[in-house]
Amino acid sequence: MKTLLFFWVLMLMLVLNNTNLMQCSVSYDKKALSINGQRRILISGSIHYPRSTPDMWEDLIMKAKDGGVDVIDTYVFWNGHEPSPGNFNFEGRYDLVRFLKIVQKAGLYAHLRLGPYVCAEWNFGGFPVWLKYVPGISFRTDNEPFKMAMQGFTEKIVNLLKGHDLFEPQGGPIILSQVENEYGKLRMKLGQEGYNYMNWAAHMALSTQTGVPWTMCKDDKTPDPLINTCNGFYCHQFTPNKPYKPKLWTEAWSGWFTEFGGSKTQRPVQDLAFAVARFIQTGGSFVNYYMYHGGTNFGRTAGGPFITTSYDYDAPLDEYGLIRQPKYGHLKQLHKAIKLCEPALISADPIVTQLGDRQQAHVFYPESGGCAAFLSNYDTDSGVRVLFNNKHYSLPPWSISILPDCRNVVFNTAKVGEQTSHMEMLPSNSQILSWESYNEDVSALDNDGSTITAVGLLEQLNLTRDRTDYLWYKTSVDINPSESFFSNGELPTLIVGSAGHAVHVFVNGQLIGSGFGGRKSRRFTFSQKVNLQQGTNKIALLSISVGLQNVGGHFESWNTGILGPVVLHGLDQGKLDLSWERWTYQIGLMGETMNLATPSGISMVEWMDSKIAVREQQPLMWHKAYFDAPQGNEPLALDMESMGKGQVWINGESIGRYWTNYATGECKGCSYTGRFEPPKCQVGCGKPTQRWYHVPRSWLKPSRNLIVLFEEIGGDPTKISLVKRSMNTICAQVSETHRTIKSFQVESYGDTVQEFYIPKVHLQCAPNQRISAITFASFGTPVGTCGSFEKGDCHASTSSAVLEKKCVGKQSCAVTVTNRNFGRDPCPNVLKQLSVQALCASITN
Ligand code: GAL
Repeated sequence: MKTLLFFWVLMLMLVLNNTNLMQCSVSYDKKALSINGQRRILISGSIHYPRSTPDMWEDLIMKAKDGGVDVIDTYVFWNGHEPSPGNFNFEGRYDLVRFLKIVQKAGLYAHLRLGPYVCAEWNFGGFPVWLKYVPGISFRTDNEPFKMAMQGFTEKIVNLLKGHDLFEPQGGPIILSQVENEYGKLRMKLGQEGYNYMNWAAHMALSTQTGVPWTMCKDDKTPDPLINTCNGFYCHQFTPNKPYKPKLWTEAWSGWFTEFGGSKTQRPVQDLAFAVARFIQTGGSFVNYYMYHGGTNFGRTAGGPFITTSYDYDAPLDEYGLIRQPKYGHLKQLHKAIKLCEPALISADPIVTQLGDRQQAHVFYPESGGCAAFLSNYDTDSGVRVLFNNKHYSLPPWSISILPDCRNVVFNTAKVGEQTSHMEMLPSNSQILSWESYNEDVSALDNDGSTITAVGLLEQLNLTRDRTDYLWYKTSVDINPSESFFSNGELPTLIVGSAGHAVHVFVNGQLIGSGFGGRKSRRFTFSQKVNLQQGTNKIALLSISVGLQNVGGHFESWNTGILGPVVLHGLDQGKLDLSWERWTYQIGLMGETMNLATPSGISMVEWMDSKIAVREQQPLMWHKAYFDAPQGNEPLALDMESMGKGQVWINGESIGRYWTNYATGECKGCSYTGRFEPPKCQVGCGKPTQRWYHVPRSWLKPSRNLIVLFEEIGGDPTKISLVKRSMNTICAQVSETHRTIKSFQVESYGDTVQEFYIPKVHLQCAPNQRISAITFASFGTPVGTCGSFEKGDCHASTSSAVLEKKCVGKQSCAVTVTNRNFGRDPCPNVLKQLSVQALCASITN
């Protein structure tokens, strides 16, 4: 009887154990995270699920896997999941479970950065705006209403995911979770309250019993057992706050985000690879690229203000999900090289020796024998030859060579052997036809009762609750016919003080000008001479929010809109302050109320031929037209250069805000050497910051797709065109000495198979393309870079013919970089390279 009782108690304990997820199949120590008892060196990549469409997810995740990524990292976007209190959305782009199941199906792990504060250049940092109006709330501090809401959402997500068995101890992909985000700086500012909140957040997270470790990034006071992690362009100097925690890098910035009016940042892959190798050689065991695929801020999800809808980030997968070369391929080779060292990295600490003034060797000797080495040259100007283990090695400037067996260099961070591919926006065969327009009348809503009237200026978000970007502020002013400016011509000046982000100013129905804030200084003052008439003058201010701020604390205190003063200067009485006049407020546009952007809403109004609107450059216009889906499967975009500022929808789905603004900044050349940080390596100066807006294929039907846009200022919609993102030109450059890893296989830990290629140039077009021409080929000493190659003193005359024979008509080809292949040695005793430029052409049309 006793034995039976014991048996049942044991069974019950097992069952309870399972449901409580206490199996702890993910743990950590000072070296690394361990999964099922095995320490791992993990490569991770951020892909935020709402920044692409569900039909893209599998492709993105598989490409990440093929690029050597083990873990997919994503934030969880509270404002997308709970648009109003208690109303949850897990559909479409917010189908988190589906996303994680694809990660699982791909055999990858997930790091769930649950926040719920995410920053991420995402509207309001991921917080729902309704949270701002919870009585007594104070964000990201020791405040009961905030903590209650944060805990509610965290538990909601954890329970949802547990319900689908998505945590690792349940057999799911999630091996790690993050609570809060970069809290350290704010904690210090808030003092004791911040400290209390941080501790509370950690314990709250633990109480959800996910069975996987929790992280907090950028906060060195992170309490045990949570792991504090590093974010940045470099993290080799980072050490966790306890000697028994692993060194994890949760945001290795692969590029940077873009703001309207700014240029774009590119981070050279040589420097990114250098930073990652440097982190690993100093004992790092987890690197997450932020971003691996940045994607698009669809709808009104962009943070800000003034963050572009393109969140391309110069990531290994571009905004459209296409492979960015050479970044993707070079990192893939880096990951292979690191994985070859994994058995040594997880079991030994590095022994560091000085190889020169600014050169070091980090050598890992595992107990099981063998050794792996990283040889680094921190010199930003000169390459060097170093002696290591009785052998000479050449190290280019600012580079690290990886030697998984302490003898053979399988990878150097500065030697890029991958093809470079140039993505271009090419015309599609689809025309956007039958443009019609409708005027959002400035005075239309004056008397229809849907407005609010108040004395004084009201804060914008409080009225709109961020359901729309737009808030009208309207008032009138009586001007005496005796005012002197009627005779002396010295017009009065209208001054409008705004807390952000933009305003279009109308006087008597006419747009007289606009004012804009910036990302850092949101406040601005509009000031302009104004031609007033005798008697009543109508002043209408359209205040616009262009993405809510995403960085900081105390979100409850953030204001937007026209908070004054609104003043007329230059009247006979001097200054006339309108701030305390009676103001009428209209929330949103009339077109928004009528759902004009949707297929069912368009019949609500009479549309006119767009030619008239375009000729008169009328502001506040709705435009609509139709187009058929272009053939093929290249990603699509709208070329919006002919337009000003507004929003655009396709078949009722918002592809986001467009904002044509020319990029300021300095775009000087870019060297991969030396510390990287924006504004280093800028491109696109003098051009519109964003000209192309991603139109996901899955939002289209074969014919008669409806495009609707709302244009605030003016512009010519008939010039909008649909373009295809295509890879047209590809280049490759490989020297005789360049060796790449041929096969990569870690069969079991400690059992690695490595083989090396003799140097080869690889060219590859997209799957539906073929190499149509070789536009440059030189085996010898060619100079220049992709797009501007030139022959050098040494050139094999057979170069083009060899390449044409092997490559033209093929989707991909490989050409060995040896003398034999080109007939004979064109210049004996000279180190040669093969540089090639080729064209890819689509085979579908
Ligand atoms: C980090 C933050 C991310 C993102 C990034 C810049 O500090 O954690 O969410 O905002 O900066 O892209």
